[in-house]
Amino acid sequence: MRTPVIAGNWKLFKTIGESVALVNELKQLVANIHDVEIVVAPVFTALSRVSDAVEGSNVRLAAQDCYWEEEGAFTGEVAPKLLKDAGCSHVIIGHSERRQFFGETDLTVNKKARAAIAAGLTAIVCVGEMLTDRESGQTFSVIETQIQGSLAGLAADDFTHVIIAYEPVWAIGTGKTASDAQAQEVHLFIRQLIARLFNQEVADAVRILYGGSVKPENVKGLMSQPDIDGALVGGASLKADSFAAIAAFNV
Ligand code: 13P
Repeated sequence: MRTPVIAGNWKLFKTIGESVALVNELKQLVANIHDVEIVVAPVFTALSRVSDAVEGSNVRLAAQDCYWEEEGAFTGEVAPKLLKDAGCSHVIIGHSERRQFFGETDLTVNKKARAAIAAGLTAIVCVGEMLTDRESGQTFSVIETQIQGSLAGLAADDFTHVIIAYEPVWAIGTGKTASDAQAQEVHLFIRQLIARLFNQEVADAVRILYGGSVKPENVKGLMSQPDIDGALVGGASLKADSFAAIAAFNV
């Protein structure tokens, strides 16, 4: 059995005060949800304060990115061990916005994922096709390249610290969710690919989240698909009530 994961990616939103207020409201609303891993990913500057706020609750903390070196002359970067130090258990890596706007490649995603895992963080590794890929029938080949490159060199044991997020770029922030069947099709493809690249046990255990306009209204349908193990939520994670409603998908 795979424990579902509902993760909120707050992107570049909210001050420290707003982040703490949001998570304080959220932790009350989700206090009785025990069979779901609930994760929030605030901006870097809010991590430490949000970490204090979630202590003793069932809400876990993620960063939205990391670097692959532990320390050194790398101005502006943040190392995985510093994220742990700030209270993170998870880190999002290779989000499509980083791939699109900040030059993230499968190679850098791979370096970051390995460094995060080595530091004891759980890497939420994101993949997803662009609209042009889908329209030209390239979805599976794009996803295969991203998965192969992003997870290259990982050992089967590393997968206890890996979560995969499938986020079709055309569904992010657009209000256009992939249909349950469209999402399931890609999730199944990813799971079969993981079985081929690693082994069946790893494929059966790895959580694969869907992301892209997930809302309280569509989460149940998505979560009823056999290979969808959770959601990576953007816009709807910025309000405690909508994110809590998503986390309560099976109530
Ligand atoms: P939206 O839920 O706003 O579409 O964002 C999805 C996303 O990018 C989560 O990482």
